[in-house]
Amino acid sequence: MPQIVAIYGGKGGIGKTTTATSFASLSGLDDVHTLLVDANADQPSAQVIHQTAERAGTAPPYDLAVERNPRVIAAVAYAGYQRVFIDCPPSPAEAAAALQSADFIVVPFVPRFLETRAITRTVQTTLAGFAFRVLFVAVTHAARSRAAAVREAFSGLNVPVFDAQVRAYTAHERVQARGVSLFGPEAPGLDVNAERAAGDYRAAYRELLRVIGERTR
Ligand SMILES: Nc1ncnc2c1ncn2[C@@H]1O[C@H](COP(=O)(O)OP(=O)(O)OP(=O)(O)O)[C@@H](O)[C@H]1O
Ligand SMILES: [Mg+2]
Repeated sequence: MPQIVAIYGGKGGIGKTTTATSFASLSGLDDVHTLLVDANADQPSAQVIHQTAERAGTAPPYDLAVERNPRVIAAVAYAGYQRVFIDCPPSPAEAAAALQSADFIVVPFVPRFLETRAITRTVQTTLAGFAFRVLFVAVTHAARSRAAAVREAFSGLNVPVFDAQVRAYTAHERVQARGVSLFGPEAPGLDVNAERAAGDYRAAYRELLRVIGERTR
């Protein structure tokens, strides 16, 4: 059975697809046979990123499947893959099957003061009983101290948070729009902060592997 990691946020436009595609790329670059399931059939951004890359002549190092049927998502479609990432839809009902099938759930979160309550509710209801960690993403320079405060609040609530933190960089959108891999040699030519952006996801990916390893050992 492959290792299954779901990327779930309970909210739109917060970096789920960016996180899912970054992790799938790093996993593929690790020579792990990797599948990325785009479960957002209405707006399959992961598919758009995959197709844009293929058109640009750089096929990503992972396979892509677009699948909205929860039964298929949770079933044997993963045969032959070592690792599967699922880019989940925001609605808890639509994401339920994917979450059930996952060994681990990554919860991207843009640390904004007013949204801390909503994410806390999400992890305490939808994600209760699941193995998960919140990943702070798109953290702007200006929001760093707020991120630290939210981190402390989560710690007090026993909400697990990645030590690694993904900063806000235009590099993410630029490479996606051009079909260039953030982790390839072309990215630094597109954006001065591409290596920093890539480094953030590398650190989060290493931490993810460590956490999953700890859980299965
Ligand atoms: N760390 C980041 N820094 C700057 N921009 C980012 C970052 N992560 C994501 N973005 C940008 O923010 C936008 C939304 O990101 P993304 O599509 O990954 O979110 P999503 O949660 O999958 O959204 P949706 O609900 O539409 O599926 C994209 O344009 C993406 O390029
Ligand atoms: Mg998305």
